[in-house]
Amino acid sequence: MTKLPPDLNPQNLPQHVAVIMDGNGRWANSRGLPRIAGHRQGARTLKELLRCCKDWGIKALTAYAFSTENWRRPVDEVDFLMLLFERLLHRELSEMHQEGVRISFIGDLSVLPKSLQTEMERSVKETLNNQAIHFTVAVNYGSRNEITKACRQVAELVQRGELSAEEVNESVVEKQLYTADTPEPDLLIRTSGEMRLSNFLLWQMAYTEMYFTDILWPDFDTEAFYQALLSYQKRDRRFGQVKASLSA
Ligand code: FPP
Repeated sequence: MTKLPPDLNPQNLPQHVAVIMDGNGRWANSRGLPRIAGHRQGARTLKELLRCCKDWGIKALTAYAFSTENWRRPVDEVDFLMLLFERLLHRELSEMHQEGVRISFIGDLSVLPKSLQTEMERSVKETLNNQAIHFTVAVNYGSRNEITKACRQVAELVQRGELSAEEVNESVVEKQLYTADTPEPDLLIRTSGEMRLSNFLLWQMAYTEMYFTDILWPDFDTEAFYQALLSYQKRDRRFGQVKASLSA
């Protein structure tokens, strides 16, 4: 178990961290390895980060593993990623369960390989009551798609007369998102020097602090995470308000 570094304030840790794990391909290329080697190493990095979050008392981690746009990658790479997700779930489930990890998935899972869907359902069911950390993996996820789906569901409620148009508010929409009833991320980390959201949790990250680093995802180790948390703890989160000391 890794202890929280003494210069991090345990009272001011993000409760929910989201990660865009970018740079696996470049990491592999720079070593003369195939891109899939980067994904394999990236998965190890994610496992370490999950453990670190748990050890340091962070209650939720959400990882963007596969976007709705990632289907445009070469077929071999997509097939490998699907197989990697399935194998990892199969191999790591019992350990994660023992460590108190609750696993969830967000995204349109219905088009994923059936055997992967089965592993996903099993891991969600088995870990449902775990409390140590909530680990959410976004697979075939796209935020615009999620919001559009939510709008359609709200429209159906109105059409059926279960809700009037005037009653549609933020909380009604929120209830139709994949993330209904889960707290919003406090901190987003994106690796590899890219500075965009790429259709990830657009609604949920309205007030999330962003941290971008040039480090490639497979190299994003505990030290790098510690740096991200140090930066987070220096931020002044006002959520659109004026700081108490300035408001008089
Ligand atoms: C982005 O790097 C990475 C991905 C699209 C795949 C991420 C998946 C993993 C790390 C495996 C995680 C496993 C589980 C079970 C969640 P890239 O390929 O876009 O890299 P590049 O920008 O250098 O090409």
